[in-house]
Amino acid sequence: MGRSTPNKALVAVFSLLLALDVVAQPQHNSHNSSAVRPFRVALSAGLPHMYDLLRQSQLPRQEEYPGVADTAGIDLNVLRALQGVWLEDFDWKREEEELNSFKHFTTEIEGLTVHFIHERSSDPDAIPILLNHGWPGSFLEFTPIIKSLTSSATTSDGRPVSFHVIAPSLPGFAFSSPPPANWTIGDTARMQHTLMADILGYRQFAVHGTDWGSGPSYTLYADYSNATRAGHFTFLPFVAYTPDQLTAANISLQDTLEQQEEQLSQGWRTTGNAYFLEQGTKASRA
Ligand SMILES: *[C@@H]1O[C@H](CO)[C@@H](O)[C@H](O)[C@H]1NC(C)=O
Ligand SMILES: *[C@@H]1O[C@H](CO)[C@@H](O)[C@H](O)[C@H]1NC(C)=O
Ligand SMILES: *[C@@H]1O[C@H](CO)[C@@H](O)[C@H](O)[C@H]1NC(C)=O
Ligand SMILES: *[C@@H]1O[C@H](CO)[C@@H](O)[C@H](O)[C@H]1NC(C)=O
Repeated sequence: MGRSTPNKALVAVFSLLLALDVVAQPQHNSHNSSAVRPFRVALSAGLPHMYDLLRQSQLPRQEEYPGVADTAGIDLNVLRALQGVWLEDFDWKREEEELNSFKHFTTEIEGLTVHFIHERSSDPDAIPILLNHGWPGSFLEFTPIIKSLTSSATTSDGRPVSFHVIAPSLPGFAFSSPPPANWTIGDTARMQHTLMADILGYRQFAVHGTDWGSGPSYTLYADYSNATRAGHFTFLPFVAYTPDQLTAANISLQDTLEQQEEQLSQGWRTTGNAYFLEQGTKASRA
């Protein structure tokens, strides 16, 4: 959760996979390029409204709960500073130009618009990799690493490695259509398999998932294993057992690391998951 820079880790993991020959040479066969349309980010028309909202936002004069730092919500001084940055320093035109320095596309899959960045390495044997962003996040998570992933690098045993990068917006995020209410992670995985294999012609590829993006990425890895030859996840999308469940299953935690992980997981359940319950149950009523 939050930003990470997985590039070094990715290169390390794929060095290993290349060494094991797990990632077969990608094949870039029949693909349907007529189904894909170039896309540009063009949101400047919304700027005046954004600045109106920012200027009209009245912040509390003083902390409502002094002395509790950020345990009861965002710190007022931080919020004031953010308002200042947005009003005075933020340069949307420059941000937009930077975003448009990447090759963006949209396509239609199962009646939904899917937006994605597609940057190919100059090496025809590069490994195609699908990068799935998290929540609350977007394809922006990956813009700082796309150029280094598509550039040539060398594995620890001296082999060349680089990636063709496909970074989609998950359904309902950024420029991808919101899915129907009954949409599941499995539906996203199926749609992304169509994108990679049928539309872009990558018959074999790798996936990375950050945060919530680990869900569809893991499902691609598990259910489309002929196509998805390697996976890299910032977490495995499974919920840790509670102490009662551990007891019921006769599992005793082996070492300090396992015990710490269990404690972190229980801490999240008791003090960290309000947003999760809200978004998982009353997402439209926040
Ligand atoms: C390619 O995509 C276009 C647009 O979605 C579609 O009309 C056409 O039937 C597709 N062609 C093939 C060979 O799948
Ligand atoms: C999901 O909802 C859509 C309509 O929004 C419907 O067409 C589809 O059949 C539903 N799928 C399932 C598995 O219920
Ligand atoms: C996956 O590959 C195996 C071995 O080539 C093949 O037998 C199997 O039918 C494939 N499965 C799918 C779903 O394509
Ligand atoms: C746990 O261990 C107890 C005692 O050995 C046994 O009766 C029980 O069936 C075990 N439970 C599971 C889920 O393995």
